[in-house]
Amino acid sequence: MASSSSSPSSSTNPPTPVENLNTILDNLRVQELSSSDTSEPASSPAAAESYYPYNPSNPYIPPAPPAPALFTTLPLLRDALTTRSSVDQDATVNSCIRYLGYPEDPFPILDRENHIAFLESGLTSKLPDYMVAYDASRAWLVYWCLSGLASLGVDLAKYRARVMDTLRPLQNAEGGFGGGNGQMSHITATYAAVLALCLVSPRPTAATTPNDNDKEEEEDKEAEETPLDLIDRRAMLKYLHSVKVPETGGFRVAINGESDVRGCYCALVIITLLGLPTSNGLVRGTRGYLSRCQTFEGGFGATPDGNEAHGGYAFCALAALCMLGEPREVMTSSLDMGRLIAWLSARQYAPEGGLSGRTNKLVDGCYSTWVGGCWPLVEAACNGPQKPGELVGGVVGSLWSREGLARYILACCQNMKGGMRDKPNKAPDFYHTCYVLLGLSSAQHYSYYTPSPETLPASAPLAGEEGENEDLPLRSAFTWRVSERIPSVVKGVYEPVVEDIPTWPDDVAEEGAVGDRLKPHHPIFNIPLECVEAAERWVAGRVGF
Ligand code: FPP
Ligand code: ZN
Repeated sequence: MASSSSSPSSSTNPPTPVENLNTILDNLRVQELSSSDTSEPASSPAAAESYYPYNPSNPYIPPAPPAPALFTTLPLLRDALTTRSSVDQDATVNSCIRYLGYPEDPFPILDRENHIAFLESGLTSKLPDYMVAYDASRAWLVYWCLSGLASLGVDLAKYRARVMDTLRPLQNAEGGFGGGNGQMSHITATYAAVLALCLVSPRPTAATTPNDNDKEEEEDKEAEETPLDLIDRRAMLKYLHSVKVPETGGFRVAINGESDVRGCYCALVIITLLGLPTSNGLVRGTRGYLSRCQTFEGGFGATPDGNEAHGGYAFCALAALCMLGEPREVMTSSLDMGRLIAWLSARQYAPEGGLSGRTNKLVDGCYSTWVGGCWPLVEAACNGPQKPGELVGGVVGSLWSREGLARYILACCQNMKGGMRDKPNKAPDFYHTCYVLLGLSSAQHYSYYTPSPETLPASAPLAGEEGENEDLPLRSAFTWRVSERIPSVVKGVYEPVVEDIPTWPDDVAEEGAVGDRLKPHHPIFNIPLECVEAAERWVAGRVGF
């Protein structure tokens, strides 16, 4: 980033929010430069290149990259005051460090087959009796299992009919979906149902030119009900208006239910993916509501009433803002970016490498999504819009340790028989498997957004703001792209380069080994990009409401 962009435009004008952000980022760089004399192997591009020399005797076993001491030794600083929190923290470090191993150990490998089997059992087998408590989370179970399988590269088309049959009876006449059969609509269940339907929307692409029989089959398929067709859009719009709280700008999670950031995020995902009109004040005041949820620490509480900052709410708030406007514009004008970056950075611990949800709490695999998923959004706000093919220009690099998170996930969160868990000694479940895999995929990919032809001039009111253009569809989520090439900043010279986190290299994977590279996903919706495109095509192809 050019240094001139970091100084205020004139001594009399206060700095703009983007200029403020540039100053924060310049300060971060000064700190990084001053520590650039470390001889840590991972910090040198030359050492990074030598991680995976091709091993002709066994192409499936790459030589081990040396693990940085940061992830294999006890922390230098410990809390001197013994409390329940410090005892739990020490116990977690002690158990994680055993799984994280020694510097010379090979980089841990993803047990893809067993995770697939675990997630498929959630869709096709009778669930154990203790899971009766999940009866109000039926739509969620479907989403967690489908999303995890999508990350693992499984083609979900085979589940389409089954998913539609399961979700259809959960929809209520007054709009929205209940968590289980005969249950009142809940906005989070509705969100999960919409995402699950999007996940089974793409059709497998025909590899060959269709013959006449294939054409007939294609026409039959065109006439078929598609997954999103089962949604009553008109009733859904009515439902969303019935949970909107005009006085605050927020959304309730159910009629007469509590109003919090989850309500805003879920409502905005539903509105955006289903292309619903925002007229009559549907998103009026929502941007201000989200902005007021940022706490003194820099993270987000559930509501604007001074709740404790928590990773789950942080993701909901940031992703919601990114549906209301272009990320840089909307975040820098609504948030204290310095505090946000400081709080997010403090969520990643060493040696664990994993992420915690709040101050003085423990790492947990599911925060790989709730906290890890904030980073692509924040980095996009720092980088501004980028053009595909020009990925190396003007970027801040990774503001978090992708390698640390990948190590935590692969070493500490995998259950031996399949499924992912919160931390060692915890049982795997579908929720953690979904969000741990999404987090690993975020660590393996670089998300950026492209300039949208529909982006409004900076002077135009944003959605969710006083004087907004209310009929404007929410489009800013649709210009995101994902790359496997991760731009980074070379120490000492701020020249962006492409750097992979240690992972099974693609050339080895192509030799026949499966590799640990996961499928990328949309950073706001947490489903693959082609599923978002299928929803866009469905909205564009609709006749009438
Ligand atoms: C744990 O609190 C809380 C969670 C594991 C869930 C957090 C996630 C959200 C609020 C996001 C929900 C998103 C949608 C889309 C509905 P805890 O107190 O048990 O754990 P802690 O000790 O780690 O804070
Ligand atoms: Zn968890």
